[in-house]
Amino acid sequence: MKKEILLSGIKPTGNPHIGNYFGALKQWVDLQNKYKKVYIFIPDYHALISVQDKKKMEKNILNVAIDLLAVGIDPKKVVFYKQSDIPAHTELTWIFNCIVSVPTLMRAHAFKDSQAKNKDVSVGLFDYPILQTSDIVLYDAEIVPVGEDQKQHIEMAREIVRKFNNTFGKTFKEPRAFVKKEVSVILGNDGRKMSKSYKNELPLFVSEKETLKYMMSIPMDSKKISAKKNPEKYTLYKIFKLFANAEENKKMRKMFEEGGYGYGEIKIFAAEVVNKYLKDMRKKRKELEKNPEKVLKILKKGGAEAKKQANKKILEVRKKIGFEIY
Ligand code: TRP
Repeated sequence: MKKEILLSGIKPTGNPHIGNYFGALKQWVDLQNKYKKVYIFIPDYHALISVQDKKKMEKNILNVAIDLLAVGIDPKKVVFYKQSDIPAHTELTWIFNCIVSVPTLMRAHAFKDSQAKNKDVSVGLFDYPILQTSDIVLYDAEIVPVGEDQKQHIEMAREIVRKFNNTFGKTFKEPRAFVKKEVSVILGNDGRKMSKSYKNELPLFVSEKETLKYMMSIPMDSKKISAKKNPEKYTLYKIFKLFANAEENKKMRKMFEEGGYGYGEIKIFAAEVVNKYLKDMRKKRKELEKNPEKVLKILKKGGAEAKKQANKKILEVRKKIGFEIY
């Protein structure tokens, strides 16, 4: 059991796809057994930057909570909560706002991208990395398993921690990003990185039929059926490999390497393997969907526990700053 504190979160902004699963969610499920204290949360304050509709927000929060439980986040092992249950996140964000410079935040990729597209950037979007820093350091988390794209935010968190500690005395730990190299890029059916913005994603929770359709849509080439092929050259194989056990992998390699199998047949086999892998999760999701009260109860309980820790930390911060004068 590792004794550092691990923390991560996923925004409630739509259906997770297999890129999210292999890039983040699966890691959390694996790591929840290896770390003594694990926090997994839904950053709904962050989601407010783009979701500004009560019904949609409520639905998204519930949906992502169901997704996380369905993939195997275990609330007995993990403190599982939503950010907005803990006002200390926003209080600490304000405090950090006062010690972080505008040019520091202007370096953030998300801000630069929005600006480049001439979007109307909200103060919330600009402040995103600071809120993310608060999310992490309120719980003394040191290990933050995230995708490659989040590395910059964790670097900023380290910078902010150093600034605070230098100004007010040692209070926070410097977190580290934990990026699993081999799964950092999951491809979509067009061979580019899987991403909603490319519309090339396979959502986790779709039917077996839709999964088959997705696998069928992956472009191959015009090599003859009898030709011997190198599986590593095909997007289909790269996606398949994530789901396959050793035996299935061997069978698939044979189909490519020996020739004699049509792409239709190869794709049907790939879809079978993908569907088999996802079967239990999909079933669990269906069950949870029928019982939203149970899901909300789990989330609420986690929120109460997270709040205890966060409130302890924010009190320490308030003392250091000079707010606790009574
Ligand atoms: N920015 C993260 C993402 O888009 C979500 C997030 C918010 C997060 N706060 C966090 C991740 C704290 C890890 C730790 O994926």
